Amino acid sequence: MLADARARMDGLARTPHLHVVRLGEDPGSVSYVRLKDRKAREIGMNSTVHALPEETTEAELLDLVERLNADEDASGILVQLPLPAHVDPNRVIEAISPDKDVDGFHPTGVGRLWTGAEALPPCTPQGIMRMLAFYDIPVAGRRAVVVGRSNIVGKPLAALLLAADATVTIAHSRTPDLGAVTRTADLLFVAVGRPEIVTPDMVREGAVVVDVGVNRVGTTPEGKARLVGDVRADVREVASALTPVPGGVGPLTVAQLLANTVTAAERQQARRAGA
Ligand code: GUN
Repeated sequence: MLADARARMDGLARTPHLHVVRLGEDPGSVSYVRLKDRKAREIGMNSTVHALPEETTEAELLDLVERLNADEDASGILVQLPLPAHVDPNRVIEAISPDKDVDGFHPTGVGRLWTGAEALPPCTPQGIMRMLAFYDIPVAGRRAVVVGRSNIVGKPLAALLLAADATVTIAHSRTPDLGAVTRTADLLFVAVGRPEIVTPDMVREGAVVVDVGVNRVGTTPEGKARLVGDVRADVREVASALTPVPGGVGPLTVAQLLANTVTAAERQQARRAGA
C-alpha cells in the first residue's frame, strides 16, 4: 500500500504535502502523529506537524485550518482527535475543505461515502477493507458484525462493508447480550475502546476477527505503554484469523492516510489543469 502511494507520487507535478495538527500532549495522539509524519517522509512526501498547545482556542484552530485550506501547497489536512473539551470537533471537521479532508470525516465526504459517490474513505476502515482483500477473505454475502459506532471507525466501516455486499449489523457497548450478536458474525470487527471486551465465548468457530482497539493499560517494566486490544488474545484459538495489537490495524491506517493524501493531490492537480 505504501509502495503504491509512492509510485503514484511520481505522476504528480509537485510533491504532495500533508499537514497534521494536534493540540496538547495526549500520549496516544503524540505517538500516532509522530508515526504519520515519519511514514510520510519515508515515502518522500512533504509533511508538516502543527503541534499546538492544549490551551489553543477553537478560533485559533479554525484560523489555522482556513490558512491551510487556502494554501495551494497543502494537499491534505488532518486534525488529530480527540481534541480538548473546549474545542468542538464537529466545527473543526466541518471547517476543513472536503477536497483536503484526508480523514474522510467531513459531512460532505461521509454523505458521499454512504451514497456511493467518489470519496476519500476514512483511513482505518479502508485500511481494513484492503487487508481483507489482500488476504483473499471474501466479504460479499457474509454476515459482518461491527462492534462500535464511532464516526472514525464503526460507522464508516459499516458503510464500506455494505457497499461490498456484506450483511451488516452494528452493535456497541450498550447492546444487550452482545455475545449473542457477535456469535452471528462470519467477520467480526471490534472498535469500542474497551480492553478485552470480546472473549472467546463471543466468537463463532472459524470467524475472522479484526481488533481495532488500542488500549493503554499501564506500563511495561521497560517503561513503555502496555497496549491491549478490544479482543482477548485467546480468541485466536476460536477464530480462523485475528489481527494482533499492536501492529495489526494501526500501520494500515497510516498507509491509507498517505494513499488518501496522494489521491487528494491528484484530484487537486486535475482540477487546476481543468481550471
Ligand atoms: N484519532 C484516532 N484515529 C484517528 C484518525 O484516523 N484520524 C484522526 N484525525 N484522529 C484520530
